[in-house]
Amino acid sequence: MNLSDLNRVALAMVTPGKGILAADESSGTIKKRFDAIKVESTEESRRDYREMLFRSSEAMSKYISGVILYDETIWQTARDGTPLIKLVEASGAIPGIKVDEGTQALPNCPGELVTVGLDKLAERLKKYYERGARFAKWRAVIDIGRGGDRSIPSMTATHVNAHALARYAALCQAARIVPIVEPEVLMDGDHDVDRCYEVTQLVLNNTFAELRIQRVALEGMILKPNMAIAGKQSAKQASVEEVAEKTVRLLKACVPAAVPGIAFLSGGQSDEDATAHLNAMNRTAGLPWRLTFSYGRALQAAPQKAWSGKQENVAAGQRAFTHRARMNSLASKGEWQADLERKQAA
Ligand code: 13P
Repeated sequence: MNLSDLNRVALAMVTPGKGILAADESSGTIKKRFDAIKVESTEESRRDYREMLFRSSEAMSKYISGVILYDETIWQTARDGTPLIKLVEASGAIPGIKVDEGTQALPNCPGELVTVGLDKLAERLKKYYERGARFAKWRAVIDIGRGGDRSIPSMTATHVNAHALARYAALCQAARIVPIVEPEVLMDGDHDVDRCYEVTQLVLNNTFAELRIQRVALEGMILKPNMAIAGKQSAKQASVEEVAEKTVRLLKACVPAAVPGIAFLSGGQSDEDATAHLNAMNRTAGLPWRLTFSYGRALQAAPQKAWSGKQENVAAGQRAFTHRARMNSLASKGEWQADLERKQAA
């Protein structure tokens, strides 16, 4: 492992004013997104859609530092035969790859999940590096019990998922690939912001303890956490200021300053909420790490709708993607304002 190379890539992933496009939906997840816009999910439609995003030259060159690809995408070629990964590289963004293989039921813990994919990971990483990937992603999923059920998450679920995240991160660094460490505490449920804070604190503390045990170099990784936010079904939603203040407090308590950057997931927040929260956090002075976005839904919902699977809508899809990327770029510098959204709509 060459730590200065890893650190250089990690810092580039959180270049001020830029963030990460998470375009690594599994075939099952992208099918759900395409169902919503009434587009059949085929190898070709998935290719056309992602090609549209990667050819959005303004968004990709000005606002996007890196793209997380799915295994199918990293081997796919554009309509004209150019490998899709070359489109990403040509825009100046860094290609990355999702390497986890999804979740399975966790034995003895009803309703909880463990992320799998460590078997043969070292060999897969080698192939991805040769293809051009310089960072990777692994997502652990932690649920919060409904109706005040404090048995979820269990100690078992937080422990095994933190262990797997650290195993993955150590393997990535050995393969010269920067790991995005993503322990996602889900927004599903009726919990309030303080319960989310408490669970995320537990999850982050477990994750960093495992990263230390497994000798992962913090300077050569990126953290991708959820924000401290109320569950979608909670009657007690927190304000933008409260989410920002609590998320920053939580991260300061749990994330060492040696970590170069934190790139949030959007997790089902509305597009504008995800932007507003990131913006409010970046107005806080004296943060020890760079804070940016690594959004899937909050960057792609608008372009998916504008595109709707039609070749004649490609320009509209690219405009919608560029707008969201620009809004989040401003938020990553604390320079976003809500009226910029209205101006676009007008
Ligand atoms: P969302 O922003 O849609 O949560 O996706 C980010 C991601 O990569 C989840 O693993």
